[in-house]
Amino acid sequence: MTPDVLFSLPGKTALVTGGATGIGRMAAEGLVAAGARVLIASRKGEACEAIADELNALDLQGSAEGFAGDVSSEAGIDALVAEVKNRTETLDILMNNAGRTWGAPLGQFPFQGWGKVMDLNVAGLFQLTQSLLPMLIASGSIDDPSRVVNVGSVMGEVPMGDGAYSYSASKAAVLHLTKILAKELSGQAVTVNALAPGPFESKMTAFAMGNDDQRDKVGDDVPMKRVGRGEDIAGCMQFLCSRGGAYVTGAVIPVSGGINVSTGGNIFESALH
Ligand SMILES: NC(=O)c1ccc[n+]([C@@H]2O[C@H](COP(=O)([O-])OP(=O)(O)OC[C@H]3O[C@@H](n4cnc5c(N)ncnc54)[C@H](OP(=O)(O)O)[C@@H]3O)[C@@H](O)[C@H]2O)c1
Repeated sequence: MTPDVLFSLPGKTALVTGGATGIGRMAAEGLVAAGARVLIASRKGEACEAIADELNALDLQGSAEGFAGDVSSEAGIDALVAEVKNRTETLDILMNNAGRTWGAPLGQFPFQGWGKVMDLNVAGLFQLTQSLLPMLIASGSIDDPSRVVNVGSVMGEVPMGDGAYSYSASKAAVLHLTKILAKELSGQAVTVNALAPGPFESKMTAFAMGNDDQRDKVGDDVPMKRVGRGEDIAGCMQFLCSRGGAYVTGAVIPVSGGINVSTGGNIFESALH
């Protein structure tokens, strides 16, 4: 039961959507470091190839390859699934990480701020998972199930709009779908879990964490006093996808530095002091 056995992934093949940037890149590096072969796909195929080259140059135990894939339409998902099948006969890990957001104040939030967010974050995530299920089921066993890891958000766990109404609702849907799929697939050797991250530096959060000063301010508002880092995502992925996480399904991992349990002061505090 040594860590190298419990948390390593030699011989495993993973697909990480949106794996060239932000949280997806952090996850891809963690999986490659644990020994997996990681397929990285997003709309910008060249960016995925470049990140795969960067990861391969780190001389880690596993390997990476990048290519184009669009998770926001039926045709895009069909093409992505075909490309995955082209590259590998087996798929052990699917990380549904690709996501987008839309921000506008309450009272001005446009109708068009819903469709694109829900299509990618919810419908695309579900459809891609459904399309890859035959491969995942074929790879899994009772002792070593295949793994699906969905990227939700702490904003889907606690009532926090922050001007991103469709995004927060989409992430609540991701967490609910995670539990539904975990229930339906637990007898078929596939675990389904979710990450519910707090603030991490990425393209999506650059508008509020684009420089050190902004990042530190965001970190100060996190109960654990910092924003998330690559190791926080890599650690969760290595756990959920390895022998160590084989008996865990339907979980939402709150990788948010305590925002998920930050409910304000205690009820009787001001009356007693
Ligand atoms: N950063 C945070 O603080 C935070 C917190 C909680 C949850 N999250 C979630 O983490 C995930 C990753 O976001 P991020 O923060 O790392 O932001 P990011 O750097 O903007 O990553 C989003 C990724 O999704 C890809 N993508 C966008 N549309 C796509 C499409 N139609 N098909 C395939 N890939 C697509 C993008 O690549 P292309 O442009 O090349 O397609 C990009 O790599 C998202 O689900 C996000 O909601 C982030």
